[in-house]
Amino acid sequence: MKKLQAEIQLIAQSNQPVIEDDLDQMPYLKAVIKETLRLHPPIPIIVPRESTKDVQVKGYDIAAGTRLLVNAWAIGQDPASWDEPEEFRPERFLNGRSIDFRGHDFELIPFGAGRRGCPGIQFAAVVDELAVANLVHKFDFALPNGVELDVSEVAVFLLKWLSITARPPRKNTPPSPQKLPVIGNLHQIGPFPHLSLHSLSQAHGPLMLLHFAAAPVLIASSSFTSRDIMKTHDLIFSNRPKSTICQKIMYGAKDVAFSPYGEYWRQMKSICILQLLSNK
Ligand code: HEM
Repeated sequence: MKKLQAEIQLIAQSNQPVIEDDLDQMPYLKAVIKETLRLHPPIPIIVPRESTKDVQVKGYDIAAGTRLLVNAWAIGQDPASWDEPEEFRPERFLNGRSIDFRGHDFELIPFGAGRRGCPGIQFAAVVDELAVANLVHKFDFALPNGVELDVSEVAVFLLKWLSITARPPRKNTPPSPQKLPVIGNLHQIGPFPHLSLHSLSQAHGPLMLLHFAAAPVLIASSSFTSRDIMKTHDLIFSNRPKSTICQKIMYGAKDVAFSPYGEYWRQMKSICILQLLSNK
């Protein structure tokens, strides 16, 4: 907190609010935002995708129509990518390690990556930086003695699982935890799905195949597996699964985030990026 306040006070005029032009001179602030998004990604399990073709990932056969869940929270906690991952240490982004959240460095993907990656990154980053900078510039924050802040994330699943029909089993599929008849692996997903999926992945590996009822769901929990899926096979995994809830609340999935991959989505996304969310 003190280090951040010192940086902000050096750049911002004493009584003036921090403005967008100041942000480029605040590397520690940017590192604080990155470290927060690494430890607490607001969408711990990235918005689900679906494969449109049969594909091989890391040598395993993945059938068309398999759902994909990428556990961004687990990736941010992976000791293969981060020293002492449980520590809040913004300095890890300074001192030459130029890692960013724009979807090129798969160790840090709170905004997803590839074609379906978040078009609001730039907007969200500036708003977050301005909000934190101005709050820290004007106020000192502390918790009352003995009080601990619960910052655990909640991941929400929007599932339509009962009506999905089983496909014939394949031979060379990724490792799977034991499943039950009818419900598949649903009983292993607790109230915090990113945590349950993380512990399952520690037993079965960073690429697992689960079944939510009969629906096959591929779980990626490391930067290596998500790079393979969201970079090498990005096109095949660019669809979003159909969901009755999204059909109902998103005008028949006519929004950008839940519309199926295709010409309509392409045009909407391009309007979003070039017109709505561009700072030009
Ligand atoms: C800290 C803030 C935000 C976070 C962490 C976030 C995260 C995400 C993630 C993880 C995805 C899914 C990416 C993927 O499938 O690879 C996504 C998609 C999306 N986000 Fe964001 N987002 C944020 C802010 C915003 C803002 C401010 C906007 C717009 C004003 C926005 C608009 C969208 C849209 C339209 C999509 C769907 C893109 C597509 O399906 O092609 N997001 N976001």
